[in-house]
Order: sequence, then structure tokens, then C-alpha cells
Amino acid sequence: MTDQRFETLHIIEHPLIQTKLTALRDVRTDNYLFRTLLNQIASLMVYEVFRNTETVKIEVTTPLETTTGVKLAKEITLIPILRAGLGMIAGIQNLIPRARVGHIGLYRDKNTLEPVEYYTKFPPNLAATKVILIDPMLATGGSATAALHFIKKRSVTDISFVCLVAAPEGVARIIADHPDVPIFTAALDRELNEHAYILPGLGDAGDRIYRTE
Ligand code: PRP
Ligand code: URA
Repeated sequence: MTDQRFETLHIIEHPLIQTKLTALRDVRTDNYLFRTLLNQIASLMVYEVFRNTETVKIEVTTPLETTTGVKLAKEITLIPILRAGLGMIAGIQNLIPRARVGHIGLYRDKNTLEPVEYYTKFPPNLAATKVILIDPMLATGGSATAALHFIKKRSVTDISFVCLVAAPEGVARIIADHPDVPIFTAALDRELNEHAYILPGLGDAGDRIYRTE
């Protein structure tokens, strides 16, 4: 589904994703189940994220003859925003097991809400690959837009952002700063609260994954 307000936003409304997201939101869901569901949703979302991905023809030889098949036109690079983005990587690797993985470490300063970078490690030749930036939560959009700037400094042009729950404020921020980047989410929630947490949301994703609350 697309939202009339946001041209580059794709909301993936598959019933399997939505039922699992409902369980993720539940305050009673413990960290083990939270991680399991998050990875399962990530696997299911990948199917839609890659729907229009470019392929090239290749020859394949079956036991009987040679025919034409396809492979993805570009290598894939997954870039989770630490910490919470890591919680979706195993699920995506289930479907794209040979993807390269880069990392960006960012946290939101509790007072300014601005992202603070503490770690960056990218594979070489990033610009030749299709990059998928991953973070379950898109709140103010500060972290995602900063990460997109870091990635674009490496001349990357083919880049998508995948999250689980998005706030309208964060979507608007990405579209303003990075209108070329498609955004995929499982839910567009109502708003941010005064601490920039998403409502209804699911709380602090990193804390729920790693039991650091
Ligand atoms: C969370 C989340 C995003 C960011 C979203 O990370 O995983 O990275 O907040 O907020 P924003 O859109 O307002 O930038 P957090 O800063 O809590 O770090 P963590 O993943 O290490 O817990
Ligand atoms: N980060 C989270 O983990 N959750 C929110 O609701 C907002 C930012």
C-alpha cells in the first residue's frame, strides 16, 4: 500500500507481517520472542522490497539441456544501524545469504535527540552494489537521514531504507532530505510523543532486543 502523503513510502500490509507485528508491539512479549518475530518479519518484508529488483539473464544447464535463467543484476549490501538494525539482519540473510554487510553505529542523544555516530565499517566498492539500510524504528528520522548521508558519501545511488514501524515525522524527514530513497515499512504509526517515541509504537527496540531496559 502507498500513503497519499508520502510518495516514496511503501507499507507492506501482508497479514502474516501484521499479525507478527501485533505480537511484537505487545508489552508482554519477551526478548527471545521479540528477536524471533523481528527476524521473521524481516524475512517476509524482503520479498516485497526486492519485488522490482533488476535481474540479468544467465544460462543454466539442467540435467537435460541448457536454458535461460536470471540472477540479480547487482550485489547486495545490507547496512544495519546499530544496535536495533542488527535484529533484522539474520532474517534478511535467510533469503539473501551472500549479501555483504556493512555497519553504522548511531545512537540518539537523550537531550538533543540528534544522532551521534560511534562506528562505521563498509565493504569496499559500495557504489557498485544495491544498498539496503535497515533499522526497525523510524522516529524523527535523524538517525536514518544521517546514515543515508554517510552512505551517499561513498557515491552510492541505489539505496532503499527498510524499517518496521515509521512515524509520519520520520518519513517526512527522509523524503525531504533523500527523496530518491524508497522507504519500506510494516506500519505507519500515528505520531511521536514528547520524548520522540513512536505512538503507539513498540517501545525502545534496542532495549527490547537486548534486555537493556
Ligand atoms: C533507535 C532506533 C533508531 C533511532 C530512531 O535507536 O533503533 O536508530 O532510535 O530514532 P530517530 O528516527 O529519531 O533517529 P537508539 O538511538 O535508541 O539506539 P539503539 O539502537 O542503540 O538502542
Ligand atoms: N527508537 C525506538 O527504539 N523506539 C521509538 O519509539 C523511537 C526511537
